[in-house]
Amino acid sequence: MGEPTWTREKLQRLVQREISDYQLIVVSNRQPYVHELVEGKLSYSSTAGGLTTAIDPLMQECGGTWVAYGGGKGDYYAVDENNRIQVPPDDPSYTLRLVWLTEQEEQGYYAGFSNEGLWPLCHNAFIEPTFKTSDWETYKAVNNVFAKQVLDEIDGRPAAVFTQDYHLALLPRLLRDADPDIITGQFWHIPWPTYEIFRICPWGGELLDGLLGNDLLGFHIGDHCDNFMEAASRVLGSQVHDEYNLVYQREEPTLVRPFPISVDFEQINLESQSPEVTEEIDRLLEELDLGGKIVGLGIDRIDYTKGIPHRIRAIGRFFEKNPEQIGKVVFVQAGVMSRANIHAYQLLSDQIDLELAAVNGRFSNDNWQPILYLPDDLPAVTLAALRRIARFCVVSSLHDGMNLVAKEYVASRFDEDGVLILSPFTGSAHELIDSVIVNPYATEAFADAILEAVEMPYEERRERMIRMRSVVEENNIYLWAARLFVDMMQGARRSRRPIRSY
Ligand code: G6P
Repeated sequence: MGEPTWTREKLQRLVQREISDYQLIVVSNRQPYVHELVEGKLSYSSTAGGLTTAIDPLMQECGGTWVAYGGGKGDYYAVDENNRIQVPPDDPSYTLRLVWLTEQEEQGYYAGFSNEGLWPLCHNAFIEPTFKTSDWETYKAVNNVFAKQVLDEIDGRPAAVFTQDYHLALLPRLLRDADPDIITGQFWHIPWPTYEIFRICPWGGELLDGLLGNDLLGFHIGDHCDNFMEAASRVLGSQVHDEYNLVYQREEPTLVRPFPISVDFEQINLESQSPEVTEEIDRLLEELDLGGKIVGLGIDRIDYTKGIPHRIRAIGRFFEKNPEQIGKVVFVQAGVMSRANIHAYQLLSDQIDLELAAVNGRFSNDNWQPILYLPDDLPAVTLAALRRIARFCVVSSLHDGMNLVAKEYVASRFDEDGVLILSPFTGSAHELIDSVIVNPYATEAFADAILEAVEMPYEERRERMIRMRSVVEENNIYLWAARLFVDMMQGARRSRRPIRSY
């Protein structure tokens, strides 16, 4: 028997009890809702990526304020005079406060240090990080901009600030320096590299010291915690008590723990049964001519960590080895363009086009094409329909903190069918052990894994899917948040700083 399922309501009660008269503030670079202005009309959409997928349902339940960079063309027109807007726009339940950055700030802090420096540093995808001093200076300045906005929002009241990810590594220390009573927690949504890799960052010590301004620091898995603690000890000389997962820096403790992030199982499970999704399935079967075919699916941000070219090559090899599958299996690759002004992403996009052209050029016939590439930002209902159509879903990341696409696929299969092919280099592979686990670099084994998924008998698919669904159902996003909030408040209690009663 596992732990009982955590629900929105249960989390809400826990947050009320634990956080009580503290105001809850979430801070991230990316906002959950972005506004566009087209021909004088404002519209909004929710943003892609694991962070929004995980944190938005929590905020909808717990309330509070989410502080984020306002990057949409219509954002400025959507907010009030204090740069705030109630969201979700259709059914408001929390406050979004937007921070404005200049183009130069966005370039140096987001595209530059965060995504050309830290992102490749933390992911083993063999893309060399770029560390420019000017980007680092801008990163520091922007972390200060966020700190000012958060302090303004707190306005001297008791607050618990939950910072997200690698864009804001310096924020917790800045907040603590300004007001030691603020409770600080952070979740690092990507992997943390080994010491050997981390030490190439010229400003590693400052990053570590910034993060050690947190009462609690969370990673997806234990290996990332161990890597972080080793870096703190070897780069900064911080005192590390591994047995308690505590790191002491400037004589103050930070609790460093794994919290495998997840999805809102219940909601995805229910949404995928809606009549809109069923209608969309009919539309897609017809429009993409998928009727009677075995469909494979990939859903990714177009990022070099996701192993998309490796996947396309493996699909090509699969048809080469199994010509009897030609015309019977179709792979649908849905993608969201990402960070398109960064050179490595432009190269990747070109590479994907070339690999696709090679496989489709070689195997297509008049009535059939092996890979359908849908590189648009598809609506949620279409993605839900594709998940239901897909006999198998492929997640072939070269390195990934968690990968929520894998968990979303499992959560949406209320029919208990479908096979997940999963890279061992994802955090999800630690939990979804009933997937077909295959190394994306091993093209031959990858092609065989696709055949295994195509030929897997219904009973086996069902048994595996039932087990994976119970894992995601139990370890859902609400359990993740509950553990995190409790540890964040307890981490603060443990520190020397006096804590206000609650
Ligand atoms: C990953 C990161 C998030 C990020 C998301 C989308 O999941 O951990 O912080 O928001 O990718 O990337 P983007 O650069 O578009 O925000």
